[in-house]
This record gives sequence, structure tokens and C-alpha cells, in this order.
Amino acid sequence: MRVLVLNGPNLARLGTREPDVYGSTSFADLVAACAKYGAELGLEVEVRQTDQEAELVGWLHEAADSATPVVLNPAAFTHYSYAVRDACAQVGAPLIEVHLTNPARRETFRHTSVVAGVATGTVAGFGLDSYRLALSAVAALATG
Ligand code: DQA
Repeated sequence: MRVLVLNGPNLARLGTREPDVYGSTSFADLVAACAKYGAELGLEVEVRQTDQEAELVGWLHEAADSATPVVLNPAAFTHYSYAVRDACAQVGAPLIEVHLTNPARRETFRHTSVVAGVATGTVAGFGLDSYRLALSAVAALATG
């Protein structure tokens, strides 16, 4: 089964971005880890990243139209983008919200997720393992 792993703004800068918060793991490491997790779970994983809301909305439409499950780290869009939320709401297949950090432990503005209410579930706070856990949730949901 194919799974889209979609990442929002600033996530391509992992490794150099606020290493005290996000660690030294690079985006290339994230892509490689997702490919490995996917292979272990029998999933065909495609990882994408964009800094643009419109592009992310377009990818979510693609997932909606092709009934493709999504693992989504909306990054800062999590906290304010109703456009991303509305696009997520159209995805009929499982959509798992992921975060590397635990936003609930961080600044108050990160405590709100406008996406959570239309996600199948959320995994947050485990670094790259958040993606592994989300992909295993997708695999588990597919096998019932
Ligand atoms: C993040 C958390 C968000 O608050 C932040 O804007 C990000 C990354 C995470 O993965 O921990 O860019 O989604």
C-alpha cells in the first residue's frame, strides 16, 4: 500500500534548524528513516516537504482523490491553517498527524492544532519515532 508522508514549512531545515529543539537529525535522515520503516511494514512510502500552504493543500487533494493514506507533519500550519484542515477533512483514508516534538510542552500558541479534529489520530514527541509509530498505525488500520 502506498502512503504519502507530507511535511510542512521549515522541516527541510532539520539538522540546522534550532538544534536545541529538533536535534541534529536532518531531513535526509527523516526521508531515509521513513523509507526503512515503510519497507519493514510493507508500505510504499513517498516523503515530500513544502514551505507553501497551496502546495500542501494540493497534495492533500491528491491523497483525497486517490484514497491514499497520509502521515502529515503540518509544522507551523498545524496551529492556524484552516485551509490545511479543510483539505485534511477530505481525505477518506487514514490521516495521522505527527510531530517530532510534543507541542503541548512548548509555547502556548503550539497547544492548538486545527488539524487534530479531522485527523484519525496524532503522534507527537518522539522525534523520528513519531513517523515510525504513525506508519505502523497506518499499516495496522489497513489490516484491521
Ligand atoms: C512541529 C511542531 C510545530 O509547532 C512547529 O511549528 C514545527 C515542527 C514538530 O514536528 O514538532 O515546525 O510540527
